[in-house]
Amino acid sequence: MAKRILKTRLCDMLGIEYPILSAGMGPTLIGENTGAPVELVVAVSEAGGLGVLGGSGFTVDELRDAIREIKRQTDKPFGVDLLLPKKLSLGGPLESDTIQEIPLRKAIKELPKPYLDWLHKVMEELNLPDTNVTLKLNTTTMRPKESVQVCIEEKVPLFCAGLGNPGFMVEEAHAVGMKVLGITGNAKNAKRMAESGIDLLVAQGHEGGGHTGRIGTMALVPAAIDAAIPVPVLAAGGIGDGRGLAAALALGCVGVWVGTRFLTTNEGGALEVNKQRIIDSADEGTRVSTAYTGKTLRASLNKFHQLWDESGLDPLPFPIQVLISSTLQWSFIEANQVDYIGGLAGQISGIIHEIKPARQVLEDMVEEAVDILTRKLPQTVITK
Ligand SMILES: Cc1cc2nc3c(=O)[nH]c(=O)nc-3n(C[C@H](O)[C@H](O)[C@H](O)COP(=O)(O)O)c2cc1C
Repeated sequence: MAKRILKTRLCDMLGIEYPILSAGMGPTLIGENTGAPVELVVAVSEAGGLGVLGGSGFTVDELRDAIREIKRQTDKPFGVDLLLPKKLSLGGPLESDTIQEIPLRKAIKELPKPYLDWLHKVMEELNLPDTNVTLKLNTTTMRPKESVQVCIEEKVPLFCAGLGNPGFMVEEAHAVGMKVLGITGNAKNAKRMAESGIDLLVAQGHEGGGHTGRIGTMALVPAAIDAAIPVPVLAAGGIGDGRGLAAALALGCVGVWVGTRFLTTNEGGALEVNKQRIIDSADEGTRVSTAYTGKTLRASLNKFHQLWDESGLDPLPFPIQVLISSTLQWSFIEANQVDYIGGLAGQISGIIHEIKPARQVLEDMVEEAVDILTRKLPQTVITK
């Protein structure tokens, strides 16, 4: 079949063929692979979209290596997504400049007593083994300034801020030819980010996997577009096929930012158990919880949600809560307690039935959207 054409002004802005970005997806837990690794980035960019590296779990050196590896494997544009916390004060050995890593089981000793007591109680009651996972102290999230600098030095074509407003770096990024993208879950923040000089905005609705806000994609996208004028908007949250892409374009978006669907590909970085959860999930197979990172985050349904709800504890601020969730999640994995293992995923899980190569996901999406826009809609919608 002849190659499909589906272009918006996003394609000219970024130098890509199709207005599809694979979302920046970091690791679900400390020590796990990133959800959007080099392989996924390269596959999506080579297929004509734009792949975005989930850089939040990397150390600063690993981030630089991954960027260079992407450049080695493709000459197509790509992006890097980082989670930039506003403030970071972990205290104790976690703030050390000299210690590079410590065992997770040692790091958790810094937690407030009620949290530590609860962790020990759960580990004992469920007969969980201690985890041997190591906590790296120089990750991009712990060292946001250095990580941004690496992206600028490496002239990453698109910098994406998964958390926080990247306005502070726009001038420096533009000076080396980079574009900057922000992500929002509400219209107020869309306006604030647009005013800070970013080039692109992702409006991610409540349906989306990972950190998520309260507004559904259908209501958020037009509100964000209005609020962000003249900054172009991409839709995210609940987009997994050509129908979602066509709908986003009809709403006035210049493109889409797709997470869960690209996670469930051969190149997606999730644990196999989590890919399988997505495939087995119906549309009600996810929920939002603060158990993982301290912020509202959507993941596949599992018993860890209930366990945390029953603790009666308030979540600790991001990223400290990750110490608790990772300790338990790794213990569940080691003990093969599959029912308690959670993976970040969106409501679109309900229409994902197989793991495919990322290129095929992208091509199917383009094919279906073109068919909707050129054939189905004119056939089914009467306008005169
Ligand atoms: C496994 C996973 C990890 C994620 N990690 C990040 C991240 O590190 N940074 C970020 O900006 N967004 C992250 N997200 C959110 C995605 O970037 C994206 O906004 C979301 O997946 C879109 O919704 P969808 O899953 O319905 O496609 C993650 C999502 C998933 C599913």
